[in-house]
Amino acid sequence: MSWEAICLVSALPVNELQEFMTSDGALVIVMHNALDEIKVYQGLCPHQRRSLADGYLGNNLLTCAAHMWQFDLQNGKGVNGTDCNLASYPTKIDGDQLMIDASAVEANSLW
Ligand code: FES
Repeated sequence: MSWEAICLVSALPVNELQEFMTSDGALVIVMHNALDEIKVYQGLCPHQRRSLADGYLGNNLLTCAAHMWQFDLQNGKGVNGTDCNLASYPTKIDGDQLMIDASAVEANSLW
């Protein structure tokens, strides 16, 4: 595993998406939900690589703003577009730092 700091937990708003870039240039989205869970997924939509940070949130779903594919924010599974999931990053918290391990994660895509 190769952990890297991605952001401060205390700076994450609840129920909003935040976009960050990993040290190798991959975009990730971070979701801090009302249950105080933090999920990190690939930041580009698997359909046509649009930023998921521009998507819409509701009912624990993320809807891509480009063509309305939907993903479950609890596990990254495709809900509308069921054959395509979001890659999930391992996370840990060190003090106030959110750490992710991007070394073993490859973004899912159909392109
Ligand atoms: Fe996201 Fe098409 S790019 S649904």
